[in-house]
Amino acid sequence: MLFEQIKRREASLSLVGLGYVGMPIAIEFAKRGVKVIGFDLNATKIEIYKSGIDPTHEVGDEAIQSTSVEFTADETRLRAAKFHIVAVPTPVNDDHTPDLTPVEGASQILGRNLTRGSIVVFESTVYPGVTEDVCVPILEKESGLKCGVDFKIGYSPERINPGDKVHRLSTITKIVSGMDEETLENVAKVYEIVVDAGVHRAESIKVAEAAKVIENSQRDINIAFMNELSIIFGKMGIDTLSVLRAAGTKWNFLNFRPGLVGGHCIGVDPYYLTYKAEELGYHSQIILAGRRINDDMGKYVAENIVKKLIVADVSIKNAKVAILGFTFKENCPDTRNTKIIDIVKELGEYGIVPVIADPTADRDEAKRLYGVEFVDMDSITGCDAVVLAVAHDAFKDLAQADFDKMFKPVENDKKVLVDIKGLLDRKQYEAAGYRYWRL
Ligand SMILES: NC(=O)c1ccc[n+]([C@@H]2O[C@H](COP(=O)([O-])OP(=O)(O)OC[C@H]3O[C@@H](n4cnc5c(N)ncnc54)[C@H](O)[C@@H]3O)[C@@H](O)[C@H]2O)c1
Repeated sequence: MLFEQIKRREASLSLVGLGYVGMPIAIEFAKRGVKVIGFDLNATKIEIYKSGIDPTHEVGDEAIQSTSVEFTADETRLRAAKFHIVAVPTPVNDDHTPDLTPVEGASQILGRNLTRGSIVVFESTVYPGVTEDVCVPILEKESGLKCGVDFKIGYSPERINPGDKVHRLSTITKIVSGMDEETLENVAKVYEIVVDAGVHRAESIKVAEAAKVIENSQRDINIAFMNELSIIFGKMGIDTLSVLRAAGTKWNFLNFRPGLVGGHCIGVDPYYLTYKAEELGYHSQIILAGRRINDDMGKYVAENIVKKLIVADVSIKNAKVAILGFTFKENCPDTRNTKIIDIVKELGEYGIVPVIADPTADRDEAKRLYGVEFVDMDSITGCDAVVLAVAHDAFKDLAQADFDKMFKPVENDKKVLVDIKGLLDRKQYEAAGYRYWRL
C-alpha cells in the first residue's frame, strides 16, 4: 500500500500550492518523517521560503528554516512524488461565480508530471463534483493515464483557521475520501500520520466536498442572522451583544456574533454551492440572502460612523477618522477580501479619507491590492472618530487613555468610538460620555 511506502520513506509526498493551507501541511508531514516536495507556481514565494521566511506566520520562520521540505518552483520535481496534495486557491470572479483557474492549472501541472500508481488528493474548497468532473479529465488528458486504473483520486477538505493557535492541523478531525475503498484507506492512513485528532472517512468524494462547503455556508448564514439582528436592535436602541449574552444562557442557543465577513473562505465558499445549485435549476434563498446581508455590513458600519459624527456636531467633510485593523480576521496578516476596505470606500463617498493602522497586516499586500498605506499607531492623533475594526491581540490592551491620545483634545461627547467587534467595555465609555457604537 502507498501509505506504507510513504511511512517508510520509499515514496514521497508533494504539496501543490504552498499558502496558508499548503505550508502547514508540508511542514507537519516533514516533521513526522515523511519525504515532502513543496511546489508552488510562484517562484518569488519559493525564494522567500528558501530564505527561511514565513510571510503567513502560520508555521513561523524557524519551522521553515529547520524543515526538510524540498521547496521548488520546478514542476518536474513532482515526478518524484507518488502522493500529491493540492491546496491552491478557489476564489470567485467579480460576478461571484467560481474561479476554477488555479485548480485547473494545478491539475494541468500535476497531469504533466503524474506517474503511474499515484494518488492525487484535492484540499481546495470546491462545490460537489469539481474533483471528479473538472480535475480528473484534466489529469487524464495531460498525463495520458486513466483515472481508477493508472492513478487514483481523493478529496480531503482543509479546516485550519489561520491565526488560530489552538485549532491546528494535527488537532482538527480531518474528513477524508477516496474514489474506492483502497484509495480511501490510503488517504486516511496518510493523513493519520499528521492528524492526531483522527480522520472521518466520508462516503464519497462528493460527500466530502459538500461537507466542507456547507460548514462555511452555515457559519456565513449564522453570522448574517446576527448582523440582521444587529440592524434591527440598532433601530430599537438595544445593545445586540447584551441580547446575545442573555439569549446565550439557553442551552441550545448558538453562539455567534455580528461582524464583517471577509476573507477567502466564509464569504466565498457559499457562492460555490449556490453556483452549482443554480446550474441545477435551484435558486438559493437562504444562502444568498445571508451573503447579501454580510456583504453590505461594511457600508452599514460606515453609515453609522457618519451618523455618529453628525450627532457629535463634527463637520463630515473635514472629519479625521482612524481605523485600527485592516485584515479580514484577527491575528492574521491576510488582507485578501477584507471588508474593512468597504468601510474605507464608503467613508470616501462622504469625503472622508481615514488613516489606517494595522501592526499585524501584510503591508506590501495591502499596498498592492488596495493602494492602502498604514500609519504607525503612535502617529494617530487629532481624530474625530476611532474605529476599532479587528480584534488583534495587539489591540486588546488599549485603554481609555490610549484612545484619548488618538482623539482631538475635545469633550468626550465629540469623540466617536466605533467598536465593531465589541472588544471594549461599552458601559465604561458610555459613562465617560463618548459617542460609542458597536454592531
Ligand atoms: N486559508 C484558509 O483559512 C483556508 C481554510 C480552509 C480551506 N481553505 C481552502 O484551501 C485552499 C487554499 O487556500 P490558501 O488560503 O492556502 O490559499 P493561498 O493563496 O494562501 O495559497 C495558495 C498557493 O497556491 C499557489 N498556486 C496557485 N496556483 C497554483 C498552481 N496552478 N500550481 C501550484 N501552485 C499554485 C499560490 O501561489 C499560493 O502560494 C482554498 O481552496 C481555500 O478555500 C483555506
